[in-house]
Amino acid sequence: MCGIVGYLGEKDPKEVIYKGLKTLEYRGYDSAGMAILDGEHFRRVRAQGKLNNLWAKIEKDSFSGSVGIGHTRWATHGIPNEANAHPHAVETVTIVHNGIIENYQELKAELAKTGSKFSSDTDSELVAHLIYNQMQSGQGLLEAVFEVIPRLIGAYSILAVSEDSPDEVVAFKNGPPLLVGMGENEMVVASDIQAIVPYTQTVFYLEDNEVAHIKQDSVKFMDTAGVAVKKVPEEVEWNQEQVEKGGYPYFMLKEIYEQPRAVAQAIEPHIDLKNKSVRLAGVGFGIDKYEDLSKLDRDADWQKTLSAFSQVERIFIVACGTSYYAGMVGEYLIERITGIPVEVDVASEFRYRHPVIPKNSLMIVVSQSGETADTLAALRNVKKSGAMTLSICNVSRSSIDREADGHLYMNAGVEVGVASTKAFVSTLALFNLLALSFGKAKGCLETATEQQWIEDLLGAPAQMEKVLAYDKYFDEAGNDLKEYKGFLYMGRGVNYPIALEGALKLKELAYMHAEGYAAGEMKHGPLALIDNKMAVVMMCPQDELYEKTFSNLEEARARGGMVISIGSGVDEKLKNMSEHYLSLPESRWYVNPLLEVIPLQLLAYHVAHRLGHDVDQPRNLAKSVTVE
Ligand code: G6P
Repeated sequence: MCGIVGYLGEKDPKEVIYKGLKTLEYRGYDSAGMAILDGEHFRRVRAQGKLNNLWAKIEKDSFSGSVGIGHTRWATHGIPNEANAHPHAVETVTIVHNGIIENYQELKAELAKTGSKFSSDTDSELVAHLIYNQMQSGQGLLEAVFEVIPRLIGAYSILAVSEDSPDEVVAFKNGPPLLVGMGENEMVVASDIQAIVPYTQTVFYLEDNEVAHIKQDSVKFMDTAGVAVKKVPEEVEWNQEQVEKGGYPYFMLKEIYEQPRAVAQAIEPHIDLKNKSVRLAGVGFGIDKYEDLSKLDRDADWQKTLSAFSQVERIFIVACGTSYYAGMVGEYLIERITGIPVEVDVASEFRYRHPVIPKNSLMIVVSQSGETADTLAALRNVKKSGAMTLSICNVSRSSIDREADGHLYMNAGVEVGVASTKAFVSTLALFNLLALSFGKAKGCLETATEQQWIEDLLGAPAQMEKVLAYDKYFDEAGNDLKEYKGFLYMGRGVNYPIALEGALKLKELAYMHAEGYAAGEMKHGPLALIDNKMAVVMMCPQDELYEKTFSNLEEARARGGMVISIGSGVDEKLKNMSEHYLSLPESRWYVNPLLEVIPLQLLAYHVAHRLGHDVDQPRNLAKSVTVE
């Protein structure tokens, strides 16, 4: 999720790059940097934290050259410090990179053997080494890039410059976007359109496995074998609303892409990195829940939370819509780790069904908006019974956030699309932490399990990035889906609520009939629906229920259903059974939901988009349902 800007032209590259990065800052703000030609060398300035920190360092500087590249980072490999900030330079070669080089460990080991010295922990720096080494054999920058591309596995978009040919930028990509804007004797190359449009509206979109050789007054496109590719520029129209959407056609799409960051932000306040353990902060049992986290006595606060959780003998999770499905995932997580019985209910039922709330119960209410009328009413009812209550909201100081005894924040950032996306994954991440916390409070969580769990959660955003990078496959699958009369989304275990959420997304956005089902229930009814007009979307990751889910898939397939399967890694068996096999990175069962939901959101998005629907504001729906 990093942002990239490069400039060649007569304006001040520092200003153009800074302004461009400013519009991309939502992509990442762990650190930022730029490298601008100054005399014969590219002078590199980097700073940890937000772009303002970088600006403070260079505001007064002037650079004599007319070429530069810049970057705003969202850390995947290596902590967010200055050494890991981009651009990365190796002698005469400097690069910026967005994405993940999956084979970086192999490459690093190989480079280390031949004497390369590394000055960061990033996968990106290796690309600069590879290009530099290649150039040592007398090749120019462009030729060196052609040699390096086949060595890179993963998703990336990269800009490279060299002091040996300082008047050019080479751009190449596989996965994340890259665009070249062609102005009057100037070129702006960036990961996002909004960094380009202030200068020109004539834009070339780079496709995967294409290379752009950019000079101030010309740009040539080639495939990775160096064969020229003819590209026609597009004239883009641009307005303020599009700026706010960060260049995405819809807020929802932007929010889908923000999900890795949302998960990182949700868990960040609650993890003790040193010990790889959970330490919820500011829940509010025993302290003022609005206490400034930076002033909080973290240990005392955590002890109070643990002591409150240790009393809990029963948990009720209550919510509506997407938040309800997140709650269902919470049920699987909490029960499996802690053995505490959990009930999950939709708020509109719970509030009227006279639920029995035993002593030592905890109610967890989940609401993105914090204002959903049924959820709020259910919370108020339970409070009267004297049970302890805990909210998970995205909107701080919303009614539900204020009224619950304790609280956690999704920290997903503003969610505008009516169909909830990033709030969902943030909530899943928080339920993982809650499950671990209850496990600790009850003394049933082993340290090694907890450490592994936390490590997996910390790695989840990078895995989510990988899933997002393969959106074009979801788009292709979406193209086929729109022809079908009905949809069955199925899964087992923790994947079942994800199937429900996938079906909900298709209903909300595409206005198509879709049902989510527990895969094992298929033979009790839904099987009768399956024929060649029915699409079956099956969650089939490699978990302990894999074989059983696979049998259900075979049953659906035998009835002629069109199968879209979502599985882990290379799975030839599953692939052979499916019209579309969407492969996710391999992960443990509790991380799978965070990855699986992304293709489902994107499938629904693409179908709706192709059908011409307003994705952000689906008909008849509202973001915050404050009426019954
Ligand atoms: C509406 C929205 C959904 C959301 C649900 C619950 O139906 O369209 O996206 O999941 O309300 O909202 P809440 O704010 O309580 O999570």
